[in-house]
Amino acid sequence: GKGNYRHFMMKEIAEQPAVIGDTLQVFLNPLERRIELPAMPFDFAKLSRLTIVACGTAYLAGFVAKYWFEQIARLPVEIDVASEFRYRTAPLPPDGATLVISQSGETADTLAALRYAKSEGNKIIAVVNVPESTIAREADVVLQTLAGPEIGVASTKAFTTQLVVLATLAIAAARARGAIDAKREGELSGALIEVPARVSEVLNHDQRLKEIALKVAEARDVLFLGRGTSYPIALEGALKLKEISYIHAEGYAAGEMKHGPIALIDEEVPVIVVAPYDDLFDKTASNLQEVRARGGRVVFFSDAEGVAKLGGDAMAAVTLPKVDPFVAPILYAVPVQLLAYHAAVAKGTDVDQPRNLAKSVTVE
Ligand code: M6R
Repeated sequence: GKGNYRHFMMKEIAEQPAVIGDTLQVFLNPLERRIELPAMPFDFAKLSRLTIVACGTAYLAGFVAKYWFEQIARLPVEIDVASEFRYRTAPLPPDGATLVISQSGETADTLAALRYAKSEGNKIIAVVNVPESTIAREADVVLQTLAGPEIGVASTKAFTTQLVVLATLAIAAARARGAIDAKREGELSGALIEVPARVSEVLNHDQRLKEIALKVAEARDVLFLGRGTSYPIALEGALKLKEISYIHAEGYAAGEMKHGPIALIDEEVPVIVVAPYDDLFDKTASNLQEVRARGGRVVFFSDAEGVAKLGGDAMAAVTLPKVDPFVAPILYAVPVQLLAYHAAVAKGTDVDQPRNLAKSVTVE
């Protein structure tokens, strides 16, 4: 049941510290600060390319993982949505592997993509939440997210647990490829171990995010901006908002703004900027200034350092905990969920069962 919550979505958002912890426990040895994954049917060191395929929010988890695999494992990654990938007849390297991600394990396009990649000779890793699903059965290796049943159509805890599994996989790939040493693996593992506690802290901003959401709920269009791993989080924020509040929202790579979408910006369009204080912060900051110069109302998600630098330029700023930039996307997923949730509640939509949507898209 929903317990004390009005909606499954809020219950599932609140469960994230616990289910992230449960999932981590399977793949990370906390004493040794070392990743321990099941044996892979290929050698990461010899892999020429990883292809990632999924739909919707699962695709966006894969999009974050692409940055991780490239940055820390120096592994070339291609990513596509399953509905395109399955018909593209893309040639896959026979010494490649394909990673599919699906909460339900039953999404028709993702399953078709898996079968295509297999027919091209790739080994298949599946990240799924339902271990008895079709995708889990057909994969060579299954990495399960321990999110528990997700009832709300909007994916929340499935997304963050997918990110956690993918982070451990990226670290394992980095080790196998000699791209990180034991010390760095310990640091990254340590950062992951901290995530449940940090996500709990983010949940404490619920009231503040509700206040911001009341303003956002009045808008007709909303833009989300981010760079690096914050870019897929911006896309996820936009997907969440449109899916449950029916407000038109778009996510953009912050640096792409001046190639078109900046034309949309005026006082009417809230711009949500996802920008932890990392190596790319100054770049995103200058995009924020461009938005401000056009009268845009900025909602700024950052940490204490970022807010100290730029919080004054925003209509609203939310100060999130400071973490290793590697795990930041897991944390920053949460405020965009809460923003969408409260905007939808304010609009009076059917939060758990938004119109036209099914929890699991088992037909094309
Ligand atoms: O079950 P799957 O993870 O394969 O589902 C993929 C998408 O249908 C799903 O993530 C969808 O985008 C969500 N409703 C987003 O919140």
